[in-house]
Amino acid sequence: MFLNIKMRRPCLAANWKMNKTIPEAIDFVDSFLPAVSGIDDADILIAPPFPSLFALAEKLAGTEVRLSAQNVFYEEKGAFTGEVSPGMLRDAGCEYVIVGHSERRQYFYESDEIINRKIKAALKNGLRVIFCIGESLSERETGKTFDVLTGQIRNGLKDVGGEGLIVAYEPVWAIGTGKTATPEQAQEAHSYIRSKLREVFGGHADAIRILYGGSVTPENIDSLMACPDVDGGLVGGASLKSESFERIVKFKRG
Ligand code: PGA
Repeated sequence: MFLNIKMRRPCLAANWKMNKTIPEAIDFVDSFLPAVSGIDDADILIAPPFPSLFALAEKLAGTEVRLSAQNVFYEEKGAFTGEVSPGMLRDAGCEYVIVGHSERRQYFYESDEIINRKIKAALKNGLRVIFCIGESLSERETGKTFDVLTGQIRNGLKDVGGEGLIVAYEPVWAIGTGKTATPEQAQEAHSYIRSKLREVFGGHADAIRILYGGSVTPENIDSLMACPDVDGGLVGGASLKSESFERIVKFKRG
């Protein structure tokens, strides 16, 4: 077992994906906010679908919970039908944005280069970025995990400054499958990612938080958070119910 002494401020982020109407999102925060009120030793984030952002920003103002978007485009404005700019996200009350989620890579063909442009545009506009990386099952089974992570980090973070950056390690085989990485697998990947971040950012890499994502639940959050290089969680399915995400935010401190 690892000792749970966190040198980086924990960050627990709810990625709702394409779930919840505006009234459902408001219902969630109405029960969640009182439950997490007073928690001041972790960053707590909710990433709802775009239409709920503005309504939640009003609800979350002055609370411990911050707002994140799930995606962004890299241009400021113009003829890009269906896209949303970093400035628009700021305008709607967002402080964070998730970039490069595996579902965006897989279903919307986002390449490392597109992801790199999005990260740079978001940071330039004062958003904090949760940059997602992770290997597929076949990549893991054929021993390519570290090569895949290295490529995603080098290409995704080309010419990016480390300020405002959070990395999320999300093994694709663990997302929505109920198959979580073991704490040992997570720690191994996270410590490898940190070593690569050191190559890019030098000593600043020790300040960058690396979240684990992929079937995080109230049952496994404590053992994942006990890993020295796991600084938080990016939570999909288990963040949709207020009580469940509350328990995750209230993971066992060391
Ligand atoms: P999951 O999703 O917790 O439902 O596995 C995590 C994510 O994709 O961010």
